[in-house]
Amino acid sequence: REAKMVIDKEFKIDEIDKNLYGSFIEHLGRAIYTGIYQPDHPLADEEGFRKDVIELVKELQVPIVRYPGGNFVSNYFWEDGVGPKESRKARLDLAWRTLEPNLFGLNEFVSWAKKANTEIMMAVNLGTRGIDAACNLLEYCNVDANSYYSNMRRDHGYDKPHNIKVWCLGNEMDGPWQVGAKTPQEYGRLAAETGKAMKMIDPSIKLVSCGSSGIGMPTFPEWEAITLEHTYDYVDYVSMHQYYGNKENDTADFLAMSMDMEQFIKSVIATCDYIKAKKRSKKELKISFDEWNVWYHSNESDNDYMEKKPWNVAPALLEDIYNFEDALLVGLMLITLIKHADRVKMACLAQLVNVIAPIMTDEKGGAWRQTIFYPFLHASIYGRGIALQPVIETTKHDTTNHTDVTDVEAVSVYNPENEEVTIFAVNRNVDHDVEFTSDLRGFEGYKVLEYLVMEHDDMKAVNTLNNENVKPRTKNEYVFDEGIFTTNMKKCSWNVIRFG
Ligand code: AHR
Repeated sequence: REAKMVIDKEFKIDEIDKNLYGSFIEHLGRAIYTGIYQPDHPLADEEGFRKDVIELVKELQVPIVRYPGGNFVSNYFWEDGVGPKESRKARLDLAWRTLEPNLFGLNEFVSWAKKANTEIMMAVNLGTRGIDAACNLLEYCNVDANSYYSNMRRDHGYDKPHNIKVWCLGNEMDGPWQVGAKTPQEYGRLAAETGKAMKMIDPSIKLVSCGSSGIGMPTFPEWEAITLEHTYDYVDYVSMHQYYGNKENDTADFLAMSMDMEQFIKSVIATCDYIKAKKRSKKELKISFDEWNVWYHSNESDNDYMEKKPWNVAPALLEDIYNFEDALLVGLMLITLIKHADRVKMACLAQLVNVIAPIMTDEKGGAWRQTIFYPFLHASIYGRGIALQPVIETTKHDTTNHTDVTDVEAVSVYNPENEEVTIFAVNRNVDHDVEFTSDLRGFEGYKVLEYLVMEHDDMKAVNTLNNENVKPRTKNEYVFDEGIFTTNMKKCSWNVIRFG
């Protein structure tokens, strides 16, 4: 089996927006409490933030983090989380049936984000609230006037505005599970009017209109078509969300699921462009793929817990322990995002800490890296610059629900700043190694800087606090001769080949 790839600087897709490597932290499970915030932990700083977690987030170089939800935001009263901690009240979180103590809120998150070297993507509650609450929150965050909410921020100790630039108009408003779910007409009108008012307050902000919660939603893509009719002129992005799981224990088919993601992206682009044409608009809408990941390991136990033990503070929910094959699919999803870097300008790996996350914490011990940490790390570090058109000829195979699945899925990124080019590739054939060749003759004088791989005999291998069983290693088995790179790419492997 073989795959041949040609790479050239001239085959440009587009410049990759750094926000493609964003992530997400929701008030959910142990993401905040005992995740990023644990004042009684030996590694907590003076504000109660876990320094070990901040270090791992910095290692991932996450440029933007979505906050505070997620489903949580649809019944969140942001005012509960600001001001003196002693007067903050606990509230029911209806989304996850937990108790929100409100000891961590907006200002704490702003401070944490600064320490973690990241920006904020803020979501407003369009489930149980509307234009007024969204405008008040924006005024509190971004306005420097002698006004009610700007002064409230000052009273809380923050003289200068937080200047949050990216705002999501609600979350998954098409989902029947969402508190305050809406029809597309209802959401479209509310989001348009909220967005309009928010841009009156701060015209420099960027807004995200809620797209479908997944390609499987019965209202997809009608949801996008109807809601964007209303919101198109006011927003800059439409959101996409998608999670996958290997519920049938069919690895070959699981690794083909990034094809569905690609189809989803193409359909959303087509729908955006249909509205653009209909409106005779000059604006091209971008995509914020602001929730994506593998998510299924914890589903059953979470549903059981939420049903039987409601209203606890920070229970261990959505703590998927990721295995090796999950890391491969995350790699494939990253390749898919990079291939669409011309339209997908933001994306958030959902989520960042403890909740379906690359980073886990032990309440008494340290923080550790899940298997999916690594493909995300590689893409975030080496996937900056210009995405290049993947010109690949590869053998293909069929799986239970997919036909013509490419054995090797790959993309490359050229970074003109440091004169480096990186190939990201997954051999997703579960039975066969592939003879992989890449023609880089357009990059004269380049050498192989590093070849990193993740390979494992056990698809279900996981990492734990004290055992990093699944991690990358350097591979030396390759030939690079007169601009032609050749290697035997192992079945089920994640490959990062760097030239410079
Ligand atoms: O990321 C977990 C949940 O998935 C989010 O709260 C919600 O938006 C989505 O359904």
